[in-house]
Amino acid sequence: MADLKHEINRRRTFAIISHPDAGKTTLTEKLLLYGGAIQQAGAVKGKAAARHAVSDWMELEKQRGISITSSVMQFEYEGYCINILDTPGHQDFSEDTYRTLMAADSAVMVIDAAKGIEPQTRKLFRICAMRHIPIFTFINKLDRDARSPYDLMEELENEFGIGTYPMNWPIGSGVDFKGVYDRENRQILAFREFHRGQDRISAIACSLEDTDTLDGLIGEKLRTALCDDVELLDGAGYEFDLDAVRAGKLSPVFFGSALNNFGVEPFLESFLRMTMSPLPRTAGDEIVDPFEDSFSAFVFKIQANMNKAHRDRIAFMRICSGKFERDREYYHVQGGKALRLAQPQQLMASERAVIDEAYAGDIIGVFDPGIFSIGDTVCEKSHKVTFEGIPTFAPEHFAAVERTDTMKRKQFEKGIQQIAQEGAIQIFHEPNTGMEEVIVGVVGVLQFEVLEYRLKTEYGVDVRRRPLPYEVIRWIDNEEIDIAALNLTSDTKWVQDFRGNDLLLFASPWNVNWALNKNPDLRLREFNRE
Ligand code: G4P
Repeated sequence: MADLKHEINRRRTFAIISHPDAGKTTLTEKLLLYGGAIQQAGAVKGKAAARHAVSDWMELEKQRGISITSSVMQFEYEGYCINILDTPGHQDFSEDTYRTLMAADSAVMVIDAAKGIEPQTRKLFRICAMRHIPIFTFINKLDRDARSPYDLMEELENEFGIGTYPMNWPIGSGVDFKGVYDRENRQILAFREFHRGQDRISAIACSLEDTDTLDGLIGEKLRTALCDDVELLDGAGYEFDLDAVRAGKLSPVFFGSALNNFGVEPFLESFLRMTMSPLPRTAGDEIVDPFEDSFSAFVFKIQANMNKAHRDRIAFMRICSGKFERDREYYHVQGGKALRLAQPQQLMASERAVIDEAYAGDIIGVFDPGIFSIGDTVCEKSHKVTFEGIPTFAPEHFAAVERTDTMKRKQFEKGIQQIAQEGAIQIFHEPNTGMEEVIVGVVGVLQFEVLEYRLKTEYGVDVRRRPLPYEVIRWIDNEEIDIAALNLTSDTKWVQDFRGNDLLLFASPWNVNWALNKNPDLRLREFNRE
């Protein structure tokens, strides 16, 4: 058992969140480089692939590659076993991006130093905050002109309502970028031209008191400014509070340049020291301890294969406790059946491998003949638990979808329901109407194209899609309320999801406020937890 404890204890599972172009791919790549998982920069599936997400989706082989590569990357670093969860972010931003955050124990938020918080960072942050997971901030691209670090920190505090603690402090930016001051070790890490283009190189360290050397490294002007800043930061009296970090209330902030590999290794080392091994998870009244002997996991993502001959899928599971062994029989709680998980796979950097064992904190992808749904639990038959379901997140784009061939009603209904069950889309309908026309909601617009493609290739149904002008959806939280009698703007629509929950579709956030003001008893929710 010492082995089990040791293995789980050294695991760190986190997601990197960012707005497109802030540097997530670059940072991931440098982290893998330190882990020795890849030999050279450029090995991580980059934006070129993401830009072609639509066409990739439509090619079976590439699709298989994507489903695995874009899910998790595992590597070793100084005794730690690190799982980085990828949060699809460009055109392929979807509900999966949110769900992935359910599988992480902490998040790294990458921010472009010139831009600060951007819309996608905002959306992803909210999901992390909902779970109270620790959030680390990497402010990137200091080698380009950047906003004032004070401004950036203030923006984070004001917008996100969290505390920030700069772990290091930038010295200049853009062409004047000279490095960072490491507050814990009280030394300068100097940025030199030779950092550019190098894969792995240490920074030059120098104490703040060593004025002569410092002047040689960063110049007198920047040294004076830095000394003032450091005095101000130290005098501000904010104590570093690890408990607040772990509760998601205080975000340690690191400045650096992922592209130049500057500040990445110190970041990784602090990050690993501050984060925790896999966290306990709630399952009804029980708190499942990751170090328990018995295996348990939940499904957070289902990736359909585009092979229409077999409607097979891959279900991604986050292991929550114990050890997974390939040939053992486990229990699928929602299906009420014992099963062996077929072809369990894991990704080691860019290699995909069938695995024999995995531990709490790890993510495995298993072959799914169509039995799993998002949020399902798999565990030992002798110790059954049911993890809390994964919330349904509010879609942001809506369209009315109907079939063009009146003969294909059954195929249309079956297809659209199955695709919704996988969690790729959400479907709604007006109360007391059939499925002639279905309202489809998605988090990312690419999902509309995927839906059309799949209905055609897998179910033989052509559809017509009409965009709907709604922007905001809210679940009605009241147990009893006469929805038909609510005072709503004429462009607000009452719909139901396929579980029969009532929702309202609004044209804008303004209409939501209007509805809440005019109907004081109305309670609305942004996501739905089944
Ligand atoms: P993303 O995954 O968050 O979308 O961002 P990605 O890492 O792809 O980075 C976006 C662009 O920003 C890339 O340039 C990348 O090289 C650049 N970048 C990342 N980190 C830094 C940094 O620290 N400093 C500077 N100056 N640039 C940085 P690109 O030209 O759009 O793409 P590519 O052709 O280099 O792949």
